[in-house]
Amino acid sequence: MSKRIDVHDLNIYYGDFLAVEGVNINIEPKSVTAFIGPSGCGKSTFLRTLNRMHEVIPRAYVKGQVMLDGDDLYGPGVDPVAVRSHVGMVFQRPNPFPTMSIKDNVLAGVKLNGRKISKSDADALAEQSLRGANLWNEVKDRLNKPGSGLSGGQQQRLCIARAIAVKPDVLLMDEPCSALDPISTLAIEDLIEELKENYTVVIVTHNMQQAARVSDKTAFFNIAGTGKPGHLIEYDDTTTIFNNPKDKQTEDYVSGRFG
Ligand SMILES: Nc1ncnc2c1ncn2[C@@H]1O[C@H](COP(=O)(O)OP(=O)(O)OP(=O)(O)O)[C@@H](O)[C@H]1O
Ligand SMILES: [Mg+2]
Repeated sequence: MSKRIDVHDLNIYYGDFLAVEGVNINIEPKSVTAFIGPSGCGKSTFLRTLNRMHEVIPRAYVKGQVMLDGDDLYGPGVDPVAVRSHVGMVFQRPNPFPTMSIKDNVLAGVKLNGRKISKSDADALAEQSLRGANLWNEVKDRLNKPGSGLSGGQQQRLCIARAIAVKPDVLLMDEPCSALDPISTLAIEDLIEELKENYTVVIVTHNMQQAARVSDKTAFFNIAGTGKPGHLIEYDDTTTIFNNPKDKQTEDYVSGRFG
């Protein structure tokens, strides 16, 4: 559990379009890393390459290396489906399966991976995952009710429970709070703080306060103009990025002088 990620010279393409160029980054286990930067600079694109979700899009591919504890995720013979069970993902909008019960939602990823588990193991795993996502107390009396009956913040925590039920090493989150109210946002932020004890967490956020609150390291991405590739401009301790960045672009962005 909780593995390091080392990215070497990664170029990310959509067909002929080079969307993100030359990323080198080392992400420590048991830490939270925030990706920040203006819209279109490639944060989501880069995030999706960390669990091979990028290539789900037709003609999308990468050049370069993404190592998970020294194993190249893009090496020959690597099964992208297996990669996704090691590197889980939570999306911007909570996306529980609407007609599925809360419990079945939590177990959906485990069942997709083709694992057969007994009812008692399934119950235990559902409880453990819901507890891990700080949702257990709110749903324990309605596990067989549809996931769509939960509030937005609860649905997002349900999706986090679903992601951790497969016991990944890494948890990727793309703006997980952007559809949530401030109270639910704080609940997710508290949860991220706890999750980093067991996982490598990477979060994309447009909320600077959130990046400052939850992350140990921050990566600032930028883009020189429309049609140009995004670049990783600066990567450092979050306190350095926000208080003492080395690059002028980072300083302009974090101080709100961007654009
Ligand atoms: N499915 C796709 N096909 C082709 N180009 C895409 C696709 N998805 C994103 N892009 C392009 O890749 C670039 C990076 O987009 P991306 O969504 O990664 O940016 P982002 O930093 O996540 O932006 P935002 O903050 O708005 O979410 C953009 O130029 C975008 O138009
Ligand atoms: Mg995005």
